Amino acid sequence: MNKVIIANWKMNPQTVKEAEVLFSKLSNEKKNNKKLDIIVCPPFPFLFLYKKLKIKNINLGIQNISKDPSGSFTGEVSLKMATDLGVSSVILGHSERREMGENNILINKKLINALKYKLLPILCIGEINRDNDGLYLAFIEKQIKGCLLNISKSQVKNIIIAYEPVWAIGVNAIGQMNGEQFVEMKIFIKKVISDIYDSKTAHSIRILYGGSVNSSNASVYIKSGADGLLIGRDSLNAQKFGLILNTIK
Ligand code: PGA
Repeated sequence: MNKVIIANWKMNPQTVKEAEVLFSKLSNEKKNNKKLDIIVCPPFPFLFLYKKLKIKNINLGIQNISKDPSGSFTGEVSLKMATDLGVSSVILGHSERREMGENNILINKKLINALKYKLLPILCIGEINRDNDGLYLAFIEKQIKGCLLNISKSQVKNIIIAYEPVWAIGVNAIGQMNGEQFVEMKIFIKKVISDIYDSKTAHSIRILYGGSVNSSNASVYIKSGADGLLIGRDSLNAQKFGLILNTIK
């Protein structure tokens, strides 16, 4: 199966013009990397560019979605609106949204809604800090069990999990995840999923890594068994993004 590379632009760039240029450049980088599946997730106002620029070689993702299909929900965006613009996947449970108040219950509702509309959910999980007693493992387990509540075995196979330790994300990262730590975490996540469903189901779920991925560490995670990467900052620079793709292809 192809590795999945997700570009999470977060609240960047600031103008349509810049977004247009970045979109075209990322699409260009994909041309030399046929065996990678790329999903670009721009902010809402730039989603329309996907159809405008007639981008075909990468998929379009959205960074958040309403839990409701339609109605009086000020500031929300529905799945139907998103799919109409060409969106085929959605990032859910990102730590930055959790920090704004999203909890496992809400993420679970959004996940169920996304699956109903056949969007590919990218479910983000990850501990805020590490401790020596392994409490962070219980935290991850709670996130997985809470987010996957009432999701059937056949549905869960259509979810991608992005493991993103919060302490390793963004400019405020206090450390960098190493390959060994990722291997351990992947085994742990599979074990939790296996406990909820079964080992065959756990085996079929793709687990990506995200958190300060760059061209010098990307291949470490891939070699350690990551099924792909979720890239923040370095997806805003086509050259850096291209370098990452080249190191792992
Ligand atoms: P980063 O962001 O690559 O800038 O650390 C990753 C993420 O938050 O998805």
